[in-house]
Amino acid sequence: MRAAVYTKYGSPEVVKLMEVEKPVPRETEILVKVFASTVNRTDCGFRSAEYFISRLWSGLLHPRNKILGCEYAGQVEEIGSKVSLFKIGDRVFGYNDKKFGGHAEYVAVTETDAITKIPDKLSYEEAAPITEGAHYALCNIRASKIRKGHNALVYGATGAIGSAAVQLLKHMEVKVTAVCNTKNLELIKSLGVFEVIDYQTQDFTKTETGFDFIFDAVGKSSFKICKPLLNNNGIYISTELGKHAENIFLALVTPLVGSKKVLCPIPSFKKEDLGYMKKPVETGGFRPIIDRTYRLEEIVQAHEYVETGQKTGNIVITI
Ligand SMILES: NC(=O)c1ccc[n+]([C@@H]2O[C@H](COP(=O)([O-])OP(=O)(O)OC[C@H]3O[C@@H](n4cnc5c(N)ncnc54)[C@H](OP(=O)(O)O)[C@@H]3O)[C@@H](O)[C@H]2O)c1
Repeated sequence: MRAAVYTKYGSPEVVKLMEVEKPVPRETEILVKVFASTVNRTDCGFRSAEYFISRLWSGLLHPRNKILGCEYAGQVEEIGSKVSLFKIGDRVFGYNDKKFGGHAEYVAVTETDAITKIPDKLSYEEAAPITEGAHYALCNIRASKIRKGHNALVYGATGAIGSAAVQLLKHMEVKVTAVCNTKNLELIKSLGVFEVIDYQTQDFTKTETGFDFIFDAVGKSSFKICKPLLNNNGIYISTELGKHAENIFLALVTPLVGSKKVLCPIPSFKKEDLGYMKKPVETGGFRPIIDRTYRLEEIVQAHEYVETGQKTGNIVITI
């Protein structure tokens, strides 16, 4: 089968299209013929190993799993003898940031992993980008314990994580203020937010609203900048560790002093979380934003674009 393979860490060019062995599903695995995947910041982070710590999971000297692609959507082609949750022909999508494998014509997945059937009317291209941004967003939203009627600010609402966070918070009936660039104002407004702030023409710290949760989905602000905007017992979470990894230190110290806290939750995503995500997808309350679509043959260009940090939502790969 054809696959995008990387055998060493580095820039997008380390990813090469080549022929590899088609996986054979084990007893509890299903073989998915992949029609769509994505290139996202998780793929790029594992490929570049820019943060050395990521090698603890991906392999110290060389990548252990040589095919990236943590998101995938496709059709079940074969099932192992003990598989009971899926049948041949099912349209499925899923997430796997342990083994990856979506940048290939086939991927073998354990049936109990985060994989489920694609809701009716959704194409493979629409289903593949549902999970990566959303699982980071969901993990952070849950950690904040924000509830219906509360106020939240999402900084960086145009990213994969930010745009998922806005939609998930809306689904929870939280009042959302979103911060984004001028060119995406209408797009973010269309997600039904309470207020949109254009960071290119306005200073979001001047807003009159107080927030129970500030989520910096692109890691460009800081607790110091956002603290005055937080209500008492307000929570600040960033997707980055901050200057000198200050958010780790602040997550240890702020629960001990004052009422405004920084949290650094560790993301995880299980099959039941995928089930939770499916509900707003089925009711039309959640649609991953798609910026560009590349073919598998253009995987290097896709990595290059994601690495600019300028994508709006998600980048889909068709296979
Ligand atoms: N290492 C990993 O494994 C990993 C995995 C996932 C996520 N992350 C981190 O999580 C963060 C978000 O990931 P993502 O996939 O959601 O990002 P993304 O989709 O790449 O985010 C890009 C968006 O962020 C916006 N943005 C850039 N600078 C901004 C600023 N100063 N203020 C407001 N918006 C700004 C961009 O819009 P503009 O046109 O305005 O620039 C663009 O729409 C990133 O920092 C990423 O590194 C890391």
